Amino acid sequence: MSGAPCPLGRCDGSGLIEDAEHGVVRYCDCRRQLVAGRRARALSAVVPRRYRGVSFERPPVTEMPAPQVDLVRRYVRQLGARLDAGRGLWFQGGPGTGKTTLAMLVSQAALASGRTVAIYSLPRLLAEIRETFDDDRPGAYTDLLDRLAGVDLLHLDDVGAEKTSPWVLEQLYALINARYEDESAILITTNLSHEDLAEQIGARTVSRLEQMCEVVPMMGRDRRRMEVTDLREQRPDPASPDLRLA
Ligand SMILES: Nc1ncnc2c1ncn2[C@@H]1O[C@H](COP(=O)(O)OP(=O)(O)O)[C@@H](O)[C@H]1O
Ligand SMILES: [Mg+2]
Ligand SMILES: [Zn+2]
Repeated sequence: MSGAPCPLGRCDGSGLIEDAEHGVVRYCDCRRQLVAGRRARALSAVVPRRYRGVSFERPPVTEMPAPQVDLVRRYVRQLGARLDAGRGLWFQGGPGTGKTTLAMLVSQAALASGRTVAIYSLPRLLAEIRETFDDDRPGAYTDLLDRLAGVDLLHLDDVGAEKTSPWVLEQLYALINARYEDESAILITTNLSHEDLAEQIGARTVSRLEQMCEVVPMMGRDRRRMEVTDLREQRPDPASPDLRLA
């Protein structure tokens, strides 16, 4: 190993613990974490720039409805226990209601506490599954699925945004079901109702997600569109004084 001290303070940094009493050497938990971390780094574990630095203390989160933010705050406070129990969150609501912002807050907290996270928009994930399947490297496909199944938190943004093939939906089900059976947490955001989502990605997959996630209903107006309106109001263009009425 690297010669760094054991992050858990349990071994001498070698990743091995000698059990003199039983005359055996076993792996320290820090080694398991290290291996999981290496595998996860090959996945998409980066909070997109737009959502980097989101915080409960700053807008836009301070302007979001309190009941929803409180659910997320409680989740983050109990993060370790929730992740270990495989409990996730399901943000549901119209576009621009803050789903992705709150979900990124959770992923950022998980990454900050040393957990492994894979962040994907569902269309991108499905495309990647499809690509590795066509890949010539032996094992590329099972490697990806193993890694996605192995992270502490799988964050899928915009679930149901794309209609796809039955084969790909079958792979998605296998992935969600593997995490269900391992009690590994999933975080999803979606614009769709449960019924429409079932139509889009399959009732079995939706039913698994329902069992694993607490629903956070997001409501209100589309803030992304309101931001555009705000900018227009702050910087009226002298050439078109009636812009705000447009
Ligand atoms: N309740 C809110 N108050 C203020 N700004 C918000 C609110 N909800 C979302 N926003 C802002 O609107 C934009 C879209 O938010 P986002 O989380 O991407 O929405 P969604 O994922 O639901 O489409 C972001 O710039 C975000 O900062
Ligand atoms: Mg979003
Ligand atoms: Zn150790």
